[in-house]
Amino acid sequence: MTDDGTAEDGMTENGMTGGASAGSGVTEPTERARTILRENDRGGYTVPTARLYPFQWNWDSAFVAMGWATFDAPRAWQEIERLLRGQWEDGLIPQIVFHAPSDDYFPGPDVWGVQHDPSTSGIPQPPVLATAVRRVLDASGDEARMAAIYPHLLHNHRWWENARDPGRRGLVATLHPWETGMDNSPAWDTPLARVPTATRTAIRRRDTSHVDAAMRPRAEDYQRFIHLVDLFRDCAWDPVRMLAASPFRVADVGTNAILLRAERDLFDLAGRFGTPAEQAEIAVRIERLGAALDRLWSADLGLFISQDLRAHTPIAVGTSAGFLPLYAGRAGARAPQMAVTLQRWAGRVSRLVPSTDPDDPRFERLRYWCGPVWAVVNWMIADGFQRAGETAPAERIRSDTRALISNAGFSEYFDPADGNGLGGANFSWTAAVWLMLA
Ligand code: GLC
Repeated sequence: MTDDGTAEDGMTENGMTGGASAGSGVTEPTERARTILRENDRGGYTVPTARLYPFQWNWDSAFVAMGWATFDAPRAWQEIERLLRGQWEDGLIPQIVFHAPSDDYFPGPDVWGVQHDPSTSGIPQPPVLATAVRRVLDASGDEARMAAIYPHLLHNHRWWENARDPGRRGLVATLHPWETGMDNSPAWDTPLARVPTATRTAIRRRDTSHVDAAMRPRAEDYQRFIHLVDLFRDCAWDPVRMLAASPFRVADVGTNAILLRAERDLFDLAGRFGTPAEQAEIAVRIERLGAALDRLWSADLGLFISQDLRAHTPIAVGTSAGFLPLYAGRAGARAPQMAVTLQRWAGRVSRLVPSTDPDDPRFERLRYWCGPVWAVVNWMIADGFQRAGETAPAERIRSDTRALISNAGFSEYFDPADGNGLGGANFSWTAAVWLMLA
């Protein structure tokens, strides 16, 4: 095995050859990545993986569209259009669109109790979409399709402002750990402890029958997750009532940084597909959100952190999301310090970027968002360091990501200590990241 993770003879541990396959100019892992997307294609939308996640997930699909765009642009547009079928009248693009029934996942549409066709969950996920759409446009140049999508993105970004920052303070609120996409991050431990464990919905977890329970959130986390779903259903999914009622209310540094990046991409799209008034409106949000994000800096941890909006306190836990202001183009003069922080983390693990600071006592190398490496987060952080002119950490993260995938396959997430693949296999967004890095 060489240092970059490819085996000397061109064959990796999971049986993928590292070299180009004869004649096509496409390497074996690249072919495999395309096959995974095709296999997870349910006729216009891509499931994150078979069984464990049998529906269309919001931010997964944004990454997956960028992956499709590397070899099949019409299919990339379709991914986005199918996700937008789930968009609500008020602008929310839900975390899950339940296009077709499946018994493999809990909580299904009956638990959410949302009135929408197709049925959906009732909460958002990190808004990567405008960034993805812009990239798909760059790859395909299909302006007619883009023009039809642009108003949906604008409507969605207005939803974030109205539903989650009605006071116009700058940061949008997150009301459920699932909204952050980093479900059981230790950053949520304190605010989540405020959520009762009692649920009215009977919990029938399916995830632990598909993968090892040690790699998934704990039972108690799940009870609190479902308590919040019960509560929001009682609020009839009304954003004002949800914001007021939720005992879990945080300004997630990840969601806010991803939104800021998406606002910048939407600003550019508005210049071509919108109006000057819309551009001006987006520019106001960019300024306000950027200034608010600056205040999430933690000098102690050397990166940005989330804030507990109920307790009005910073959440002093270093997580991979804390690097995402780089991806938002808003880390400014802090980028070199963040490179030093990454260096400190690199001294404690063999593969970057662990989802939780390895010096934190709550770091767990196998458990989901408590430590494992996630390829999509790596892609965003590498992009961020690159934009900030920090090319060495960007290159290190990209090469670690490629090495993890070529050694362990297209896993859901990876052990930062030994690089083993964890969680589900044949994951769509991991395949998409490979394609984006290839
Ligand atoms: C898990 C992850 C979330 C992802 C979903 C589907 O819930 O935490 O980020 O979107 O699985 O892959």
